[in-house]
Amino acid sequence: MAASSKFIGYRCSLCGTEYLPGQVTYTCPKDGGNLDIELDFEAIRKKYHYEDITSRTDYSLWRYEPLLPVSQPKGQDTPLHLAGWTPVYAMPQLAGKLGLDHLWLKDESRNPTASFKDRASAIVVARAQELKSEIIVTASTGNAGAALAGMSAAVGQKAIIFAPKSAPQAKVAQLLIYGARVILVDGSYDDAFDLTIKAAQEFGWYCRNTGYNPFTLEGKKTAAYEIWEWWVKTHLDWHQPNGPLDNHPPLTIFVSVGDGNIISGIHKGFKDLYALGWIPDLPRIIGVQASGSAAITNAFHANTEEIKPVSANTIADSISVDLPRDGVRAVRAAKETAGTYIPVSDDEIIQAIATLGRAGVFAEPAGAAAYAGLVKAAGSGIVRSDDPILVLNTGSGLKDIRAAIQAVPSAPIIEPTLEGLKRIL
Ligand SMILES: Cc1ncc(COP(=O)(O)O)c(C=O)c1O
Ligand SMILES: [Zn+2]
Repeated sequence: MAASSKFIGYRCSLCGTEYLPGQVTYTCPKDGGNLDIELDFEAIRKKYHYEDITSRTDYSLWRYEPLLPVSQPKGQDTPLHLAGWTPVYAMPQLAGKLGLDHLWLKDESRNPTASFKDRASAIVVARAQELKSEIIVTASTGNAGAALAGMSAAVGQKAIIFAPKSAPQAKVAQLLIYGARVILVDGSYDDAFDLTIKAAQEFGWYCRNTGYNPFTLEGKKTAAYEIWEWWVKTHLDWHQPNGPLDNHPPLTIFVSVGDGNIISGIHKGFKDLYALGWIPDLPRIIGVQASGSAAITNAFHANTEEIKPVSANTIADSISVDLPRDGVRAVRAAKETAGTYIPVSDDEIIQAIATLGRAGVFAEPAGAAAYAGLVKAAGSGIVRSDDPILVLNTGSGLKDIRAAIQAVPSAPIIEPTLEGLKRIL
């Protein structure tokens, strides 16, 4: 059975209308709702036992090809094929600081272009190749674009990236180096987003936009599969009683949120595993937003799915969004897993960059935001000391040096003598 033959259609997340694979491309024609891709779980369950997946030797997100709506494009060992399978680190020093028994960090900066977005872009590029699209286009705050540019370059696909002109220099450099056509928009990420959709319609390009193209979520859900696999292999208790962490509260996952597509993808991944009967319950998912860009947090706490735009202003450029494009599913990700949303200030994000750095992890502001959310949660009783907790770092600190140097004192400059050194020691 080819991987894509399990792709049986789409379902609108708002009105529930179902569509066949060839009927629609992006969002629901009736109400603009985000589309969930539907897989034939009956067929998958019949064909695979979970150990058929966990015993695979392909150490990338493509090990989950049987659960994906696309087939892996030809050409092994390129960056496109090496997205995913990121490490999980134990964080004992930080756990001790926060009074927690179990804390891990999954480091998405170890993806080929150094952010979580490689997962989405790998799958969208695979889809574009199936559709024989000549050009893929995306709006991006930087990372989605870098991921699309890098993954496209790896397989000789043409890519065009629209980014706000305020995007950090390192991210723009990355886009250019990967050979994408880069267009900087004199406006916000939201302006770039709207322009990209119009341009894709006008010129017939395939649009990857986050929270618009349904395939991005299918890439992002693979992080949930990896978390499940890591948990099964290290703690056993999702499948077998008497594992070392049996009889403890469920795993709690902290993730930073902009458009809401990563958190929705992680939720979908666990829902897939639940539908397959491979997990008995879902972990708790906690979204963290910058308080200057908190449209989803506001909706969650107002107990509504109506996402009201804000005027975004935060140092965490990757999660700086006026109108999140995947807000409804993002609200549900926390609501349906007994999670919550936590807003964090820019100062708390900067502090988190420094704290993570001292524990060996260099995160960009949006990546560190998730840890800042955990610090708040631990201090306010949202998590208990015996909760097993996993924090996602979604992007590398090298992507935004200007933010990083705000987190630490600058290094002293001395004359090259021992006297000079002694003066500052
Ligand atoms: C590093 C990083 N973290 C978090 C996010 C948030 O993801 P989403 O917009 O899907 O909520 C992004 C999105 O660009 C990102 O680049
Ligand atoms: Zn609909």
